[in-house]
Amino acid sequence: MSIHQRAFLLLSGEHPTLPYAEVRSLLRSEGISYPEEVKDDQVLVLPWESRLAELLGARAALVMEGGRLLACADHSQEALRRACGSIDWGFLEGKRFGVRVTRIKRYWTDADLQLLERRIGDSIPTCLGAKVDLKSPEVWVRGVISARGIYLFMSEFKTERGTFFRRRPKTRPYFHPGVLEPKLSRTFVNLSSVRGGELFVDPFCGTGGFIIEAAMMGIKSVGIDLDLRMVRGALMNARFYGLDCDILHGDATELPLARADGIATDPPYGRGSSTKGERVEDLLRGLMRGAREILRKGGRVCFAAPSEVRPSLVAEREGLQVLEEHMMRVHKSLTRAIVIAESG
Ligand SMILES: C[S@@+](CC[C@H](N)C(=O)[O-])C[C@H]1O[C@@H](n2cnc3c(N)ncnc32)[C@H](O)[C@@H]1O
Repeated sequence: MSIHQRAFLLLSGEHPTLPYAEVRSLLRSEGISYPEEVKDDQVLVLPWESRLAELLGARAALVMEGGRLLACADHSQEALRRACGSIDWGFLEGKRFGVRVTRIKRYWTDADLQLLERRIGDSIPTCLGAKVDLKSPEVWVRGVISARGIYLFMSEFKTERGTFFRRRPKTRPYFHPGVLEPKLSRTFVNLSSVRGGELFVDPFCGTGGFIIEAAMMGIKSVGIDLDLRMVRGALMNARFYGLDCDILHGDATELPLARADGIATDPPYGRGSSTKGERVEDLLRGLMRGAREILRKGGRVCFAAPSEVRPSLVAEREGLQVLEEHMMRVHKSLTRAIVIAESG
């Protein structure tokens, strides 16, 4: 496969495994195969797919940028020179372009980024008539230094990171502590592999963080909560963004719905948010039973729970197939396990 037929993805460094899992789930939701070719720190190289840029650009929470891979090289000037020499720069003909190299963590620290940018720029044949324009280039040629080397790619999409901050829960009409930040809420929804037009359910919807993210991605969203104040609050929040969601007053352990394509939820842990007198394990068991009943075949549930209640085991005992478990340290006495399970 030629190098231009590969996609390069720059992932968020906020969690060691969730960004890769999110890409996997999103690709699965659209039926795009996922043969990982290179997995480096915050880096994924996959076969190029025309739908990839649009899908990840619009939906991913933990992908920062992506495009077509041009070349990769070891951490050495000589290897970079050879890699640049192997690139077919024809795509820059007559174009305004910029070169920007960024470093992940502290890899290849003795390399001067500006010098690398100049070297890459200098390797572009002048006969193409391409002009450097760092203010408004038509094409960004990007370099990313990761653990195993430097990757050069033609940027095709960049996710807008500021939107998550702008819709942080405290800016909504109804706020309650215990709500996850929008970026993580969106990650949960994406990990359920639900696609646009399908039906998504959050059985412990609280202030509506998950259903808001799902609805923003064109997914039909239903939230359920036992607390009437939350039901009203979630509705208010969804309307605040002009979104159309159904919020039902009900019990997550006796779901008032017949079917769902995907479920993602953050049940109470009995600490910051109340379990309304139930044991966390019992709530989870009820949730799993309901998920198994309403999820379509192959539908997925992504949920979180304190790691000590061993949520994967609960899911398995209730007949779901556990696919992934990701650990996330919240503070000294709480590690959240994020589980993805599938209905058979
Ligand atoms: C951690 S909060 C969910 C936060 C939510 N992700 C958000 O965006 O605000 C858990 C929610 O579960 C609700 N809850 C507790 N027991 C429930 C049950 N049996 N059925 C449905 N909701 C329940 C609580 O009222 C609370 O709103």
